[in-house]
Amino acid sequence: MNSITELQQLIEGKIGELNLGVYPPELYDPAHYVLNMGGKRMRPLLMVLTTEMCNGNIAHALEPAIGFELFHNFTLMHDDIMDKAPLRRGKPTVHEKWNMPTAILAGDALFVKSVQFVRKCENNQDKIMDVFLRNALLVCEGQQLDMDFESGMDVSIHDYLDMISRKTAALPGACMQAGALAAGADDETAMLLYETGKNIGIAFQLKDDLLDAYGDSHKFGKQQGGDILANKKTFLFLKSIELLSAPDADQLKSIFRLPSAGTAKVQQVIKLFDKAGVKHETELLMQEYYSKALDCLRQTGIDPGQTKFIEKLFAQLMQRET
Ligand code: IPE
Ligand code: IPE
Ligand code: MG
Ligand code: MG
Ligand code: MG
Repeated sequence: MNSITELQQLIEGKIGELNLGVYPPELYDPAHYVLNMGGKRMRPLLMVLTTEMCNGNIAHALEPAIGFELFHNFTLMHDDIMDKAPLRRGKPTVHEKWNMPTAILAGDALFVKSVQFVRKCENNQDKIMDVFLRNALLVCEGQQLDMDFESGMDVSIHDYLDMISRKTAALPGACMQAGALAAGADDETAMLLYETGKNIGIAFQLKDDLLDAYGDSHKFGKQQGGDILANKKTFLFLKSIELLSAPDADQLKSIFRLPSAGTAKVQQVIKLFDKAGVKHETELLMQEYYSKALDCLRQTGIDPGQTKFIEKLFAQLMQRET
């Protein structure tokens, strides 16, 4: 079995060598720009680590794993347009550096390429393609809900968890399921690994929401308070409404009815988040989903000697600052 670092290098090497196309450069340059500006490569890592964990050969998993990363980068490019985000991975976003039509089209090209790469699997090709497409659609559903919730006020924590299960957790789930299928694992094991990835994905998005408000923008690579500026109904917001006194909750709600108001708004909201003690609450819920992920992993009955690398990756993701 390869270590996380070895697999990371393998994936990074493959991505560095990618030539998605040349002409017209306005289409392919932004795609290469996004792919080469870093990123944790969590999704392809989850896929190849799962293949190895299931005693498969990563030669069967590497290209589809790159396909999942291409799909993820497509979603980032379009997500940054929707979220009006100026920064991604510490650099200007594509719609800022070029323009919006360019970001839309370069994203579309990445999507097409992602399908071509996911197909490059000799084992269980049809099943892997089904898993990919089903979950790609869930990401669109989640993104639509995320946008709808910006202007809605009666969003529950249940609604939020359903939304992030789609927009974020579907993909890690799919990567683990596809990794198992590439190794020739049975459907039941592959499904348990889907649940494992989904639960870690939910914990991952909770951490993302936490870092958006409380992280160090230089490390995180995104604008601090971007979710607050966009009136995102994150767990931090929803739980604060629940925990704050009625006047404070009303104040928080009325701030979230206003359009963006710069850093003053971010500071005001974080003060209320602090008052509610919501940072700790978010960490507790993250832990809960992290534990659920480990439970699902154990239910597969895979030898603990085989699961250690994926468990290490999960732990790293929970502690991340980037
Ligand atoms: C960002 O994903 C989008 C979310 C689902 C929160 P990552 O945090 O995996 O982004 P990169 O690929 O490492 O930059
Ligand atoms: C991202 O959610 C989900 C995607 C499908 C890209 P966010 O909007 O929170 O992701 P970031 O914070 O911009 O990376
Ligand atoms: Mg978004
Ligand atoms: Mg975003
Ligand atoms: Mg975010």
